[in-house]
Amino acid sequence: MTLLDGKSLSNKIKEEVRVEVEQLKQEKGVTPGLAVVLVGDDAASATYVNSKHKACEKAGIYSEVHKKDSSTTQEELLKLIEKMNNDPKLDGILVQLPVPEHIDTTTVLEAINPLKDVDGFHPYNVGRMVSNLDAFLPATPFGVMRMFQEYNIDLIGKNVCIIGSSDIVGKPMASLLINAKATVEVCNSKTKDLKAHTLRADIVIVAAGRVNLVTADMINEGAIIIDVGINRLDNGKLVGDVDFEGCKDKCSFITPVPGGVGPMTIAMLLKNTVKAAKLREK
Ligand code: GUN
Repeated sequence: MTLLDGKSLSNKIKEEVRVEVEQLKQEKGVTPGLAVVLVGDDAASATYVNSKHKACEKAGIYSEVHKKDSSTTQEELLKLIEKMNNDPKLDGILVQLPVPEHIDTTTVLEAINPLKDVDGFHPYNVGRMVSNLDAFLPATPFGVMRMFQEYNIDLIGKNVCIIGSSDIVGKPMASLLINAKATVEVCNSKTKDLKAHTLRADIVIVAAGRVNLVTADMINEGAIIIDVGINRLDNGKLVGDVDFEGCKDKCSFITPVPGGVGPMTIAMLLKNTVKAAKLREK
């Protein structure tokens, strides 16, 4: 079994980004800039936003964080986005999800200039991604694709079972894999007999947010397991959605949690921010 080491791969990508940023500054006088907006006081979201800010600073990317309290109105948020759309310092704009219930997520995402949509959540980028055109790709599935590439995992003709059909992970993951000529199934919490689906798969990707959802009896000998889950147990320990100990000797590749897909997400966000900055100079 080979561990898919997202921690070290993400460090390599962050170093690539740092070098690209340095070049953009020196050769074009462009400093890539990212704005991250956090509405409300969700503790996990605050942690992610902080990590994104720190990673930007380390890579030489200008970063601003806008923390708004949970009573912020949709109108106020739209005004802030409009201001950021017109701010030449900012190449990327990201609104951390979820936003409070009184704010409509789609309206907010559609307000972001698609050329600054480094999360790849605007319908313009979603449509382009599905059509296999150049687009900003959502960071988590983009990171998983980069892992496959880095470990020379061939996707053509492979059966992939994705568990979880979210707009952030499951659906874009399916699009990217379809474009890569894999055969893709997307399961969700209503799927009957999940095991029947996972047992058809060469690759199982799980993003469901349920501890021990995938166990050894559900996977084929030699399967590749990508665990996107991040769950905190009562004892404080972080685990994914896969029974890692049970599966590790049965699969050919597996991502650990922590240290697997998680660190890749931030690295790919930085990549997208540099991509956006390169659009600016044209
Ligand atoms: N919430 C969970 N994942 C993400 C992400 O990748 N981007 C944003 N904006 N919010 C998220």
